[in-house]
This record gives sequence, C-alpha cells and structure tokens, in this order.
Amino acid sequence: MKTVAVIFGGRSAEHDVSIISALTSVIKPLELTGQYRVEAIYIAKDGSWYWDDRLKDIALYQSGIEDFCQKAPKVHLLFEDGLTLVKSSQFAGRKMYRHIDVAFPVMHGTYGEDGSLMGLLEMAGVPYVGCGVSAAAVAMDKVLCKQVTGAQNIPTAPWVWFLASELERNSKPILAEIAALKYPLFVKPARLGSSIGITRVTDSAQLMNALEVAAHFDDKIIVEQAVANLFEVTVPIMGNDQPVAALVEQPLTKPDDFFDFDAKYLQGGKKGSSAKTGSQGYSNIPADLPKALYEQAQSLALQVYRAVGCSGTARVDLLIDTQTEVVYFNEVNPMPGSLYAHNWRQKGISGHQLVTELIRLAFERHAARQRLETTFQTNFLKQF
Ligand SMILES: Nc1ncnc2c1ncn2[C@@H]1O[C@H](COP(=O)(O)OP(=O)(O)O)[C@@H](O)[C@H]1O
Ligand SMILES: [Mg+2]
Repeated sequence: MKTVAVIFGGRSAEHDVSIISALTSVIKPLELTGQYRVEAIYIAKDGSWYWDDRLKDIALYQSGIEDFCQKAPKVHLLFEDGLTLVKSSQFAGRKMYRHIDVAFPVMHGTYGEDGSLMGLLEMAGVPYVGCGVSAAAVAMDKVLCKQVTGAQNIPTAPWVWFLASELERNSKPILAEIAALKYPLFVKPARLGSSIGITRVTDSAQLMNALEVAAHFDDKIIVEQAVANLFEVTVPIMGNDQPVAALVEQPLTKPDDFFDFDAKYLQGGKKGSSAKTGSQGYSNIPADLPKALYEQAQSLALQVYRAVGCSGTARVDLLIDTQTEVVYFNEVNPMPGSLYAHNWRQKGISGHQLVTELIRLAFERHAARQRLETTFQTNFLKQF
C-alpha cells in the first residue's frame, strides 16, 4: 500500500480554504479507495508542521486547533531515500517514522501554491501531485503569467505593471502608461489571490487610492483594462503532456462581489436552484455559451496550461467579451479549491477517480524526470 502525505493549511490568506479542500476533496476520497495509507500534514499559520491522524477531523479546526498545536510535537522531515516524516511519539523519547511515497500538496496561495513547497519536494526527490516549481511560481505572479502567455500570443486585456517603489520615486511615466489604458481599470497586487487588494476603478480620481491599496499588499502592481460585456468562465484541466479539460464553468457570483472573499467561499447556498455549488459559490456547468465560443474557451485554456508548463492539474480563468467574442486569459490557479471535483464529477470522473488519477500523474511526471540525465562526467576536478 502506498503512503500519501496530504499537505495543507500554510502561511497564506487561504489557509482555511486549504483545510476544507484537503479534508473533503483529497483525504476522504483517498481513504475511500482503500488503496492508500493517508498521512495528514497540517502547516499551521505560523509555518509549523504537524502530522497526526486527528488532523483529518474538521471538528478539530472548528475548536481546539490552537491547543492541539501547543501540545502536539512538530514533525521533522528526513531527506533520506525520498522523504520520511519523523515525530516524537511523546512516549519514552521514542520516535515515529513514516516513509512517504507521494506527496499531495493541497495548498492555496503563498508558501504552497507558489512553488516553494514544490521546491522542497523536488529537492527531496519525492513524487508530488500538481504543478511543478516553475509553473506554480509563474502562475502565482499575475505579471509573469501574462508575460509568459503573451509570448505565445494568448490574448489578455491590455495591462501595465510597475513596482510601488518606482511609482513613489517617479510617478509621471507610470501614470502616463496607465493613462493609455481605457477606464474602467482593475488595479491588483501581482501576487495575491482571493481578490485581496483588488480595486475596480472607473475614473482617474479613484486611481491613486486603488494604487495605494494594492501597494499595501505587494510591491509589484498590475493595472488592467476591464473586459467589457463580461462573461467569466473557468476551465479545470488535468494531465501532464496530454492534458484534458473539464467542462467550461461559469461562476455565478455577482460582479460587484468580485472583491468579496465571502462571496467566493462562504455564500454557496443563496443562489438560484438551477445552479450548482462549487468552491466559488454557485456556478453554471456547463457555461451557457454558443458552441463556438465554448470550444474557443476550452482550447484557449489548454493553450494556457501548456504555455505556463502546468502538470497534474490547474484551473484556467478566462474573461469573455460576449460582444466581440474575444476570449481573454485572466489567470491560472495551480491548485484549484476542492480540486474542482464538482466539475469533474459532471464529466463523469468521481472524487476518488480524480485523486487516483492525480497521483498516477505525479508518478508519471516523476518517472519522466528520473529518466533525464542529470550528471555529466568530466575531469574538471582533476585539474586542481
Ligand atoms: N481585466 C478584467 N476585466 C474584467 N473583470 C476583471 C478583470 N480582472 C479581474 N476582474 C474581475 O475581478 C475578479 C478577481 O480578479 P482576479 O484577477 O481573478 O484576482 P484573484 O487572483 O484575486 O482571483 C475576476 O474574477 C473578475 O470578476
Ligand atoms: Mg481570480
């Protein structure tokens, strides 16, 4: 039986969302398969790591997690023949060891979805689920991601970027660049998610304030032209070098709620009955789009996945101007909340098939990398 370490929580604004994703969409279906030994690894908000079966129970996080973290021993990682978890058993100084066959990071946001955790797993030489280091890092930075996709001629709404420190030193050229865009504009911190620090501005009088808000969250800022006649969709994708798209999904949160974390994650029960719940509240699956536009969205999402170098899974968000019928790329989420299992289910892939396939893809990528030559014989050292 293979041992899977499900890693969740983390030093991110999306810490709590990650707990739900891990417990309901990964640990539970993995255990239901009966094929894996599942180890829960929780990273607390202060960055400490814990490994304990009690961490599989949602009730612990509803009350008592602080107490647990104070008393429980922290986990140590041993980089030996892959990755081994070590913790004190609190019993006569004995230690517990568990060798990990595959890691399943279910982290959203900073220090997890951004490539840093993937880097650690890569160094340990352990197979892991989801995007690799570079795809995760590129996806996490809205500027970098638009530069990478733009180089492949993937359309985005016109945008400019700059550092808050540059704006402070000499605002004139930057404001001139922004003035070349057409209002309304979106002002965003480059490297945050969940709509945190984002403002939609309708005229130049609101601009400085929005820039200040964004600068509060990140030194790197992106200002984008708003896509008109907006129809927003998201496309979950799975695979390594032969990715497949799930259904094109239309999130149904109101446009004025775009900045509202609660609207995305907490209000899933208040919308019309024809819509289905997802981790972003309610949504239409499949999105109600003319066939050609639907297919265009699906194919653009796959192009983005390839351009960014995603593997395992990711979710590509697109903004469609329904009048001009242009599909614009907005962003990629390397570890979509709850894996977008609700969408895959509609494509006929059950929750446990989804996690099983993601683990298979992790091994497949790992094996492909193992086959690559990483050493090179030289007599370089002998010259000294
Ligand atoms: N250029 C744009 N045109 C129209 N709407 C946008 C644009 N950029 C962002 N939005 C709206 O704001 C939301 C949040 O922006 P997004 O870039 O997705 O940030 P986050 O990483 O916080 O999800 C989007 O889901 C969309 O509703
Ligand atoms: Mg978004």
